[in-house]
Amino acid sequence: MDWENIDLHAKQWVMEAGDKIRDSFQKTLNIQTKSNPNDLVTNIDKEIEQFFINKIRKNFPNHRILGEEGFGDEVSNLDGVVWIIDPIDGTMNFIHQQRNFAISLAVYENGKGKIGIIYDVAHGEVYHAITGKGAFMNDIQLPALSMRTVKESIIALNATWLMENRRIDHNLLIPLVREARGTRSYGTAALEMVFVATGRVDAYISMRLSPWDVAAGAIIIGELGGVITNLRGVRLDFLSSDSLLVARPGLHQTILNEYLKEGKW
Ligand code: IPD
Ligand code: CA
Ligand code: CA
Repeated sequence: MDWENIDLHAKQWVMEAGDKIRDSFQKTLNIQTKSNPNDLVTNIDKEIEQFFINKIRKNFPNHRILGEEGFGDEVSNLDGVVWIIDPIDGTMNFIHQQRNFAISLAVYENGKGKIGIIYDVAHGEVYHAITGKGAFMNDIQLPALSMRTVKESIIALNATWLMENRRIDHNLLIPLVREARGTRSYGTAALEMVFVATGRVDAYISMRLSPWDVAAGAIIIGELGGVITNLRGVRLDFLSSDSLLVARPGLHQTILNEYLKEGKW
């Protein structure tokens, strides 16, 4: 497989998609709700997904596509080459803030990550990795992640997990939040993952994410020695929704063993 060629196309399309999103700031958005009143989607999310799908189908007709907005294929396994796309991760931020959102695009082959691209359109930052070749931000190679203690760490998580909720005993995360240097919540899983890659935060925790939220970020962080699992410490399958713990090496194990012990949630 000519991954360099696929990568070249993917990067080009992501930049074009970014231009389209920027242009949309001048237009009126058509906003709809999905599973609940806060689960938003716009005409731009749909248009961008369709833009990628048309390009992929034309250039790589044998590849399959798993896209959040459902214009791709019914994907029930990761055999062959599968593109996993979130056209806009952080749609609520896109609508309300016109920033803190990203395009997330990943290419997997037989379940293994090959290419990950996350584009922070508003800040002009492109995060990119080809497996085995390092991870980059705007073409500058990112250094491998080093260890850090919880006390020295900033942890990205959503305040929802500290209130009574149906996924986790909300008391569980209180000691972690208390011990950490600080917490942050950006509302975009893709960017929260690459913020771990750049060291802007040291760990990111979520109770439930979909494959398109995490597929590209996992490749980028994996290249830097960061660790990606669900909250039970099990690898993700990139086919089903799951919880997520991504962190620097060492810190991941500490959070898992000392704060999220099995059986407590
Ligand atoms: C959402 C964002 C958000 C996360 C949600 C995702 P979307 O993606 O990543 O940060 O907490 O679970 O669904 O819907 O904006 O693509
Ligand atoms: Ca998403
Ligand atoms: Ca999305």
